[in-house]
Amino acid sequence: MKNGLTLFLGAFVTLALSWGGLLLTAQRQIGSLSQFKDAADEQLYPQPLSGLADQGRLVYQDLGCVTCHTQQVRHEGFGSDLARKWGERGSYARDYIRDQSVLLGQNRLGPDLRNVGSRLGDAKPAEYAEWFYRLLYAPQSVAKGTNMPAHPFLFDVHPVAGRQPSAHALALPSKFAPGPGLEVVPTSRAVALVAYLQSLKDTYDYPIERSRNTPAPKKGGH
Ligand code: HEC
Repeated sequence: MKNGLTLFLGAFVTLALSWGGLLLTAQRQIGSLSQFKDAADEQLYPQPLSGLADQGRLVYQDLGCVTCHTQQVRHEGFGSDLARKWGERGSYARDYIRDQSVLLGQNRLGPDLRNVGSRLGDAKPAEYAEWFYRLLYAPQSVAKGTNMPAHPFLFDVHPVAGRQPSAHALALPSKFAPGPGLEVVPTSRAVALVAYLQSLKDTYDYPIERSRNTPAPKKGGH
């Protein structure tokens, strides 16, 4: 093994260079991305998460929602995400710069959630929040036959008797309500989680990203 050291150094340098190259290329492409200022409304995009939504991100992470849900909308030509209305456009790397941990996910037992905050169209934020609470407490009450697991531990069940009913109690159909004289109130974790879900909407289309991500038109001929 006369050449043992040379062999070791050769393998070490090769691996170190390819590892360094991998990191540096990613850093050069993505690490330097910053918020984009829209010339018309002078806003910076992506807008940062509110404090409450950011707490909700931790609840989402903690409860493992990522095991069944992705947060990445594939571009035209890479799957049917746009046809399924999971977003108006494919996701860009820039969309994620506000996220401290990027929860892309890889299994799609449930729908992609990257734009779930904009799914209910014209619903008022409070009505939409109620829909999310019901989905978390009793999924069957909003989506019959769904496989989405119930998360009842994100709610407190209180007796109403002798005090003012809570303004935040869920309006559940009797089949899903816990019983007469009881009300279901979201805990602070549920409130943060729903604020996070409502914040998930990549509706702004960056002009610079659009041109960079639009496939070049196919040349005629073949
Ligand atoms: C075991 C897999 C699983 C886990 C874990 C899970 N979900 Fe789901 N989720 C589903 C499925 C399946 C659906 C599809 C419901 C349907 O039938 O429409 C769904 C639907 C949803 C929807 C409705 C999306 C839409 O566009 O209609 C939301 C919001 C959602 N889940 C949020 C969550 C959150 C938040 C968590 C974590 C607390 C979570 N899910 C954990 C499987 C899961």
